[in-house]
Amino acid sequence: MKDKICIITGATGGIGLRTAEGLAAQGAQLALVARDPEKAARVGESLRRLGASSVEIFQADLSRQDDIRRVSAELLERLPRIDVLINNAGAFYNKRVETADGIEMTFALNHLAPFLMTNLLLEQLIENKARIVTVASMAHGNAQLDFDDLELKNEFGGWKSYARSKLGNIMFTNELARRLDGTGATANSLHPGFVRSNFGSNNGILLRIGMWLAMRFAISEVKGAATSIYLASSPEVAEFNGRYFDKCRPRYSSRISQVEESWVKLWDQSEKMVGLAKA
Ligand SMILES: NC(=O)c1ccc[n+]([C@@H]2O[C@H](COP(=O)([O-])OP(=O)(O)OC[C@H]3O[C@@H](n4cnc5c(N)ncnc54)[C@H](OP(=O)(O)O)[C@@H]3O)[C@@H](O)[C@H]2O)c1
Repeated sequence: MKDKICIITGATGGIGLRTAEGLAAQGAQLALVARDPEKAARVGESLRRLGASSVEIFQADLSRQDDIRRVSAELLERLPRIDVLINNAGAFYNKRVETADGIEMTFALNHLAPFLMTNLLLEQLIENKARIVTVASMAHGNAQLDFDDLELKNEFGGWKSYARSKLGNIMFTNELARRLDGTGATANSLHPGFVRSNFGSNNGILLRIGMWLAMRFAISEVKGAATSIYLASSPEVAEFNGRYFDKCRPRYSSRISQVEESWVKLWDQSEKMVGLAKA
């Protein structure tokens, strides 16, 4: 991966950090998009020691659309090319909170952020025949999207919202892959496994205790990063487009995630929510 430039979101901890470490060990040039620049600078140092050819830090709170627009412009300006984009940053919110843009946080951070950033970088990604890797989750399994209430204004549930956002990741990837067909750029999504990370630690004490107990049965962050690293770097998957992976193997995602009309509907609604829709 020595001559490859890889953008990773959410590499300051958890699965994203281990993904960055795996790519650093292969000599990749890394661009980290992180909300906390000091934390990212510390991570950057350790990635250089591990073998990254270069590490550049880009600051952005990915729940904010103005930050995503600014950071995407900076990425396009500072990076000579983009070979890999890993949409990894994500979180679980047990209570309904809204972002600075007035959008439900889980949907904004987990689905709209990768949607907007990928679209803003898309021309460059296509030009470089890049790999776009989006970290979804098996949690999408029983989820359904309610297109009249994507932000769960009527009946919020933390898990319901998280599961829908991860279904959104898969539908977004599938529709993106359809649009990328024939360009040489690819888009795939994945389930990392149930991983012992900082996931959920932004919530109240009861949920944090519950997570801590559950995570005793979880796999390590290093194992959780394996499929992201595989999709970003393995020659075996160079031609794969629009597939969902688990444990470095293509798998079937839920039946609902395979309904093409829903991919288009979600794409159109997402465009409106991030201000990309053409008049
Ligand atoms: N853990 C699991 O079992 C599991 C299972 C399936 C899927 N996933 C998915 O895997 C991905 C990574 O999760 P993880 O388990 O590694 O969680 P994590 O340990 O909490 O790491 C999340 C990363 O995202 C960053 N992030 C969170 N909010 C952000 C924001 N507003 N702007 C920019 N960056 C932000 C965090 O930055 P800070 O360091 O600043 O907090 C951190 O680097 C997520 O998409 C998650 O949905 C996780």
